[in-house]
Amino acid sequence: MPQVLPSEQAVDLLRRGYSRRSFGRIATLLTAGAALPFYNEPALAQLSRVRNIPADATKIDANENPMGPCPEAADAIHNVIRHGGRYMYAYTDELAQTMAEIEQVKFSYKAEESYIQIYAGSSAPLHQAVLAFTSKDRPLVTADPGYEAGPRAAKFIGAEVVNVPLRKGTWDHDVRGMLAAAPNAGLFYICNPNNPTGTLTSRADIEYLVANKPKGSVVMIDEAYIHLAKNAVPCTDMAAAGKDVVVLRTFSKIYGMAGLRAGAAIARPDLLGRISGFSAGAMPITAMVGATASLKVKTLVPDRRKTIGDTREEVFTWLSARNVEFVPSETNCFMVNVKRPGREFWTAMTAQKVYVGRSWPVWPDWVRVTVGTPADMAKFKDAFLKCYNA
Ligand SMILES: Cc1ncc(COP(=O)(O)O)c(C=O)c1O
Repeated sequence: MPQVLPSEQAVDLLRRGYSRRSFGRIATLLTAGAALPFYNEPALAQLSRVRNIPADATKIDANENPMGPCPEAADAIHNVIRHGGRYMYAYTDELAQTMAEIEQVKFSYKAEESYIQIYAGSSAPLHQAVLAFTSKDRPLVTADPGYEAGPRAAKFIGAEVVNVPLRKGTWDHDVRGMLAAAPNAGLFYICNPNNPTGTLTSRADIEYLVANKPKGSVVMIDEAYIHLAKNAVPCTDMAAAGKDVVVLRTFSKIYGMAGLRAGAAIARPDLLGRISGFSAGAMPITAMVGATASLKVKTLVPDRRKTIGDTREEVFTWLSARNVEFVPSETNCFMVNVKRPGREFWTAMTAQKVYVGRSWPVWPDWVRVTVGTPADMAKFKDAFLKCYNA
């Protein structure tokens, strides 16, 4: 028996100029229980590539964290498994409350008063914010090269995507360019630090964007990698202050829980309400307790940031010594100029059993590399020497 989207969302989509056909497409997919055909990092990484990566290969393609969940998270997950037969909203609330305290935003059991909403990762709120805030007349404005998940969601519903190049040299978001490019923007997507470049956009520039954006538009700040960058300034306080800002967080990166799935959107309750209407269902209790336990380990963020940062800087020293061009990232991935079509380089590297990341159409001769363990990066270097300039 076909169901439809919750009526509020349906009316909203139709009001925003969607044809009954595209509305029907979204409704059908949701009804079928299917994920909307959008993409997260592993899907993007494997989009046109082999799926069967050998077990002994070095996998540095999807910005994962080889450290995985911390021991405290693993213990909490182990202990909660026997309760897995039940919907346990209390664990979701506990995560929201713990995170709200750290980020100094208001959490309430009443959704209409809460500034934080928990998700299974951050892909869902990212996609759903695009559905909520963009339309045929209100484009998504994003950086190039940038994280492609939002643009894919926009294209799916027929919303225009306005790509604005990162600023040359600093590789930060050109907020003034973004404002000028789309006076009718529905959603500005700022990935800070940026995927794939690992570069930061200054707090002053984000404030400028928020202060000067067109009326009715929203600024979404994706802070998936924020804890990895020593000099990053988070923007959760802007959400707490009631600005038209949505901040996304995930446990997939520094917390090493990509396969476990936990994340959050932090924003004014009315903005969260517009996003959350596109999803339903309980959160996985394993991820909820794992994320809460991770937040309570106060040394986790600085320790992991240092471990990953030390490995990254060592690779940068190695690349610099060989005059290889790269973007000086502050996170767990970096772009490197391989001076040949990225796909060709990627194929050559896979023959060495090293799986690096993809290229972006604007930078076809560059590939993105995830910072793995020191052992992973030793294998990367060996393979790189065989495949670079080959
Ligand atoms: C910038 C950015 N945002 C969001 C995500 C989504 O990740 P997840 O759904 O695992 O939270 C990723 C994944 O790599 C990402 O790179």
